[in-house]
Amino acid sequence: MIFDRVKPLDAILATAEKKSLHRSLGAFQLTMLGIGAIIGTGIFVLTAEAAQKAGPGMMLSFVIAGFVCAVAALCYSELASMVPVSGSAYTYTYAVMGEMLAWMVGWALVLEYAVAAGAVSVGWSGYFVGLLDSVLGIELPLALTAGPSAGGIVNLPAMIIALLVTGLLVLGTTESARVNAILVLIKVAALTLFVILAVPVMQMENFEPFAPLGFAGISAAAASIFFAYVGFDAVSTAAEETQNPQRNMPIGLIGSLAICTVFYMLVAAGVIGSVGAQPLLTPEGIGIAPGSGEMTAACNAIANNTVVCSKEALAWTMREIGWEKVGDLIGLAAGLALPSVILMMMYGQTRIFFVMSRDGLLPEKLSTVHPKFKTPHIITIITGVFVAMFAAFFPVGALADISNSGTLFAFAMVSIAVMVLRRTDPNRVRPFRTPAVNIVAPISILGCLYLFFSLSGYTLLLFVGWAALGLLVYFAYSRGASHVGKGHVEVHEDDADAPPTSVPPIN
Ligand code: ALA
Repeated sequence: MIFDRVKPLDAILATAEKKSLHRSLGAFQLTMLGIGAIIGTGIFVLTAEAAQKAGPGMMLSFVIAGFVCAVAALCYSELASMVPVSGSAYTYTYAVMGEMLAWMVGWALVLEYAVAAGAVSVGWSGYFVGLLDSVLGIELPLALTAGPSAGGIVNLPAMIIALLVTGLLVLGTTESARVNAILVLIKVAALTLFVILAVPVMQMENFEPFAPLGFAGISAAAASIFFAYVGFDAVSTAAEETQNPQRNMPIGLIGSLAICTVFYMLVAAGVIGSVGAQPLLTPEGIGIAPGSGEMTAACNAIANNTVVCSKEALAWTMREIGWEKVGDLIGLAAGLALPSVILMMMYGQTRIFFVMSRDGLLPEKLSTVHPKFKTPHIITIITGVFVAMFAAFFPVGALADISNSGTLFAFAMVSIAVMVLRRTDPNRVRPFRTPAVNIVAPISILGCLYLFFSLSGYTLLLFVGWAALGLLVYFAYSRGASHVGKGHVEVHEDDADAPPTSVPPIN
C-alpha cells in the first residue's frame, strides 16, 4: 500500500510540454534568485540562537548546514529539471514513490512553508520593534511583542505583517525579478556593511572557549541554522526558464549557496569576534533554551546585554560597537527585505495546497480561484490565518526548528526519489543530472537525517505528531477522495503556468 498509486510521470510531463516558457535565465539571474530567497531571518535573527546553542562554534554549524543544503540541492535540481511543474517535492514523490509518501511530503511541506513564513514574520517583528525604539524612541511592551513562552502575550507586529502579506497574495501580488534584484542588493549591502565594520574590531579571545556546549551544541545550532539556507529550491524551480540548465542550474544553486555561506561565515565571525557569543548557562552549566521563559528571565537579569538575548542580532552588534546609525540601517534593510521572504514562503504554501487539492487529496473547494483576482484566495486566507497565529504566539527559534524538520524530511525524500528514478526509469531525458548520484544522494540523505535528529526532542515530537495527524487525514479522507485512486490522471493545463514552488513568476 505504501508505494501504490504512482502518478505517471508522462502525464505530469505532458503538462510541462504544453508550456513554452522563454528560456531567458542565465547563471547570474539564477544566483540572484537563490540569494533573494535564501537570505532572511536565518542570518539576521537566528544567529543569536545559534550562538546560544553553540557559542563561537556556530561558525562550524554554518558550514555543516550549508554543506547538507548543497548536496540536497544537487539532488533537488535533477528532479526539478525533469519534472518542472507545480508542487515540487510533493509532485516528484507522487511520480516516483506513490501517493502515500507524496501526501506525507506535501504534509511536511506545510511545515517547511507555512511555519517558516511564521518564523520570518517573528524575525521581522524583532527588527521592527528594535527600529521603532532606536529611531523613534517608541518602546512597545513585551506583552505585545512576544508570544507566551517568551514572557509576552501576543507578538502583534509579527501577526500584522503576516496578515498584510496574506492580503497582498490574495490581490495577486508577486515579486518581479527587478524587485527581487533590488532586495538582494539591499540585503547584500547590509551584510557587507556589517562585515566591513565588525571584522576589523574582532578580538581573537572572543573565540574562546570555541565550543562551550561541545559538538552536540554545534550540531543543534547547525540543525537550527539550516533555516538560513532554506529557499535555494527557488533556483531549481526555475529550470524551464533557464538557458542550458545542465550548466547554469548547478552554478545558480551552488553559487547562491556558496555566496550565502561565505557571507554567513563572515557575519558569524564578525558577531563572535566583535561582541562575543558565549551562551547563557544554568547554574549547572547547561545551555538555556533560546526563546524560553527561562531565557527571557536570564536576559532580563543582565539587562539583555549580550547578543544571544537580542532579537535583532546584527543591528544590536552594530550599536554595541558604536555604529548606532548603521545598526538602524541594517534594521531598515531587514524590515524592507524580510516581507518578501514571507511572501515567497506563503506563496509556496498556497501552490502546494492548491496542487494537492486538485489531486483530490484535499477538498477541491480549497482550490477555488477568485473570479477577479485570479488567485486561490480561500487557501491563501486559510494559510495566512495559520501563519499569523504561528507568528503571534510562538518564538522564532521554535518555528524555524519545526519548519526545518519538515524541510529535512522533504529533502531526504527527494534524494531517495532521485536514486529510485535512476533505476526505474534510467533512459528518461534529464536536463540536469546530479553528479556522482550514488555518492551525493546518500550523503544528502544521511546529512538530512543527521540534522533532523539534531533538532530538539520537542521539535521531533511535534513532527511525529504532525505526521501522525497527516496519516489520519490521509486514511480518513484523502485516500478515498484521491483522483489517482479513482483512476483519473488528469493534467491541468494551467499547472504549466504555475511556478512549481516558492518562486513567484519572473517577469
Ligand atoms: N532562508 C530563509 C530565511 O532565513 C528562509 O529567512
